[in-house]
Amino acid sequence: ESKTDIRKGLVGVVADVTAVSKVMPETNSLTYRGYPVQDLAENCSFEEVAYLLWNGELPNASELADFRAEEAAERALSPALHEVIRAFPHGAHPMDAIRTAVSFMGMEDPEAGDVSEPATRRKAMRLLAKIPGAIAAAHRATKGEAPVAADPSLSFAESFFHLVFGRVPQPEVVKAFDVSLILYAEHGFNASTFTARTITSTGADLHGAVVGGIAALKGPLHGGANEAVMHMLSEIGDPARAVEWLQSRFDHRALVMGFGHRVYKNGDSRVPTMTKYAERMAEVVGDRRWMEMSRLLAAEMLAKKNIHPNLDFPAGPAYHLMGFDIPLFTPIFVASRITGWAAHVIEQSADNRLIRPLSEYTGAAQRSVPSMAHRG
Ligand code: CMC
Repeated sequence: ESKTDIRKGLVGVVADVTAVSKVMPETNSLTYRGYPVQDLAENCSFEEVAYLLWNGELPNASELADFRAEEAAERALSPALHEVIRAFPHGAHPMDAIRTAVSFMGMEDPEAGDVSEPATRRKAMRLLAKIPGAIAAAHRATKGEAPVAADPSLSFAESFFHLVFGRVPQPEVVKAFDVSLILYAEHGFNASTFTARTITSTGADLHGAVVGGIAALKGPLHGGANEAVMHMLSEIGDPARAVEWLQSRFDHRALVMGFGHRVYKNGDSRVPTMTKYAERMAEVVGDRRWMEMSRLLAAEMLAKKNIHPNLDFPAGPAYHLMGFDIPLFTPIFVASRITGWAAHVIEQSADNRLIRPLSEYTGAAQRSVPSMAHRG
């Protein structure tokens, strides 16, 4: 038994201050720079929210126009990056693909060695602009399709669809996607953001922090859950089987993906907004099956386990209804969360102290090194 107060998983530990977002489990709410996330989702574009996260205030019309123009101008990938993407092993995981693409972008960035704040801000803009193209090119390559050239006249959300599918869907679909990007953009000291801040605390660069963030986000307990949710819904297949399927998960004491949260224990403020837009997608597509199944699963989880869904639960079927293949779901989370990660990297650098906690040793007692002849 430990003599020190060890918080496994750092549960309840306040590691630092932040002015980027506030997670309030008492009221199931989340604000970015003071604005409730659901209000941002309903009233703003993702570009406005990216600006807010990076600058602390919402942009006025001319600031937004400049921000959009800068982002749109940086969308093209270098020929070298296209070659690297073509060389990715067949069947590579899309999160590994975007992680590797970001790592390569770090090497070819014109300000590669510069960790100053102005350079970090310019690098963040380049990453925001280029990540969708890299995700889309890697995905299209797995299908033997050539990359689509970026169109700077499109909004960020429209451009994402265009890069993946070569066309932009109807406005309701683009709006639902934009809402999901806003809801995914930022969330306090979650695992990937804390990883990014830890990397930054050593004096390393933005691309390194983002590569670490992507690696952390891939896991099924974090961002990987949105894909796992859709695999689960596909496995259930029919709303009539949902309750019985859930019971078998309970019998095996298995996790149900898209449910539970380290901080919110009474509900995730992002869920009602995402559910509303997922329902809209179900209407647009004319396929009610997934949302019906979701409703039954959520009601049963609450009744039997008192566990609420998290954002990944409605996001999974929403992305499926928008036409995205399941392997793109977590990379979409990356395309959004780059905004939150960069905001935290800038904040960490501005008032840095090396992140270096302690551990309590529980291994073998101190002993002398035996010669080779005396080893078992
Ligand atoms: N399915 C079944 N039981 C669950 C679940 C779940 N999804 N989540 C929590 N529980 C149970 C857990 O087993 C524990 O039971 P017991 O007290 O009997 O051991 C109890 O609820 C308390 O949970 P916990 O283990 O203390 O929760 P945690 O804070 O350590 O973990 C979590 C949080 C998100 C890792 C966990 O809820 C989980 O694995 N959920 C499924 C994966 C998922 O949806 N992740 C997305 C997270 S949110 C957004 C994001 O980052 O993408």
